[in-house]
Amino acid sequence: MVNPASSNPEMNSHQQSIIVCGTDTDIGKTVVSALLVQGLNAFYWKPIQSGLLDDSDSNTVSKILNLPQERIISELYKFKTPVSPHWAAEKEKKWIDPNSLKLPIRNQPLIIETAGGLMVPINRDLLQINLIQKWNLPVVLVAKSGLGTLNHTLLSLEALKKREIPILGIILNGEIHQDNPKTLEQFGKIPIIAQLPRLKELSSKTLQKQWDQQSLKITFQKYVKIEINQ
Ligand SMILES: Nc1ncnc2c1ncn2[C@@H]1O[C@H](COP(=O)(O)OP(=O)(O)O)[C@@H](O)[C@H]1O
Ligand SMILES: [Mg+2]
Repeated sequence: MVNPASSNPEMNSHQQSIIVCGTDTDIGKTVVSALLVQGLNAFYWKPIQSGLLDDSDSNTVSKILNLPQERIISELYKFKTPVSPHWAAEKEKKWIDPNSLKLPIRNQPLIIETAGGLMVPINRDLLQINLIQKWNLPVVLVAKSGLGTLNHTLLSLEALKKREIPILGIILNGEIHQDNPKTLEQFGKIPIIAQLPRLKELSSKTLQKQWDQQSLKITFQKYVKIEINQ
């Protein structure tokens, strides 16, 4: 387990930021981001959005939490086609410039949701994970709870560790599984910090209930110096 705040002095200027990445697309990164934005009283930023603009992740987070617009930082790149960012950009005759993807500075915590899984290309020279490495911030890895997660999650952890990216923990999303949490911790050597069940309704209230039940305030205060105003 890594304590990014103490182990990495370069991280201090953005100490209050966390990257939410995932083992795949559609794995629950946006829902987990909403959970963290509310719990940590944070800003939300989805720097690269590919997919339907009407249903952007920023809009989803804003709708779920009924969040004021000022808590959402605008995307730097938005593409219509729901494909990998590198190709979505090419289809619109654009190119994602990694130098433009600078971390916004805020006095409050910032939750950054990445695009797709870790090995998704941002352009023809760069993968999402290279950008995460450049940002030098701790990550929360979102993975599914059920069948298939052992392979995807252990591979993702291996890729993160190889690049010395600090990992706060894994959040498993979906029906609680009898064995996977134990096996992932055993082989991955990274804690499962929450197990988010399938929620009938996604709202500020249902996410707050999960935040409280899973003692996430304690978990996050332990690893990142964050003032939580609640
Ligand atoms: N715990 C959950 N309970 C209910 N619905 C969920 C949950 N997690 C994800 N979903 C739904 O699954 C879909 C994919 O989740 P999302 O957070 O958008 O994934 P990602 O951001 O990784 O692409 C969305 O429709 C979302 O509302
Ligand atoms: Mg998303």
